[in-house]
Amino acid sequence: MANKQQGFFSHQTLEKNIGWMIIASILVVSFAGLVQIVPLFFQHSTTQPVAGVEPYSPLRLMGRDVYIREGCVGCHSQQVRLLAAEVQRYGSYSLASESVFDHPFLWGSKRTGPDLARVGERYSDDWHRIHLRNPRQVVPESNMPAYPWLEKTVITGQNVDQRMRALRALGVPYTDEEIAAAPKAIEGKTEEDALVAYLQGLGVGVRKAQQAKKAEEAKKAEEARKAAQPAPAATQPAASGG
Ligand code: HEC
Repeated sequence: MANKQQGFFSHQTLEKNIGWMIIASILVVSFAGLVQIVPLFFQHSTTQPVAGVEPYSPLRLMGRDVYIREGCVGCHSQQVRLLAAEVQRYGSYSLASESVFDHPFLWGSKRTGPDLARVGERYSDDWHRIHLRNPRQVVPESNMPAYPWLEKTVITGQNVDQRMRALRALGVPYTDEEIAAAPKAIEGKTEEDALVAYLQGLGVGVRKAQQAKKAEEAKKAEEARKAAQPAPAATQPAASGG
């Protein structure tokens, strides 16, 4: 077999010819990439927001930018993986459709601190403020840096409307009215206010929507169970009216 004359489109041609090998590799990897990536642009589960996810309010948007600037993503991920231990610790696993308004997304990969995808409403606003000014005051063993300057920096006059317009160009459905009202909404607020607002919203909309859906399903199941049960009155329908 091995001695047989090989045609041009054989492995031998590829293996002996680095140029062809590179071209063939690029073709194979590109094709595999296309097959995996392109459908994601057209799939609802990655392009449509899941129930409960809404565009960031102006204050939360500014807080998100503080989060990016301060490099919080270097120590905190925002993606709960499918592992049982993660779901037990943090809450339901993250979906791609939770991040449709995130440009860029902040999934992160490093967890010096805990995942923050579901941290919203877990602590009070005051807890976050104290924690941001000096983490050791609430978690003595913490090695998170302190961010005391956030409390002193007012964000009035920053270009929140331009940021919203840029996001709109990327597909976030802000209306003209929302953008026009944005500078007023952040007036007098500090970076700390904005960051706390951002943190307090993480995962909350999705959790509430999931809880509402579960309650709805439980109600339906209960009704179905009741309907399926042979009710005592079923033998005498007329008597149950009173
Ligand atoms: C050097 C790594 C590091 C950086 C940078 C960092 N953190 Fe942390 N963070 C931690 C660690 C470790 C903990 C766990 C101990 C604690 O609660 O302080 C933590 C805890 C937290 C918690 C509490 C989470 C929970 O579920 O208990 C929040 C909220 C938080 N960080 C927000 C932030 C924000 C916002 C920033 C950016 C301004 C930031 N962190 C930057 C390491 C970091």
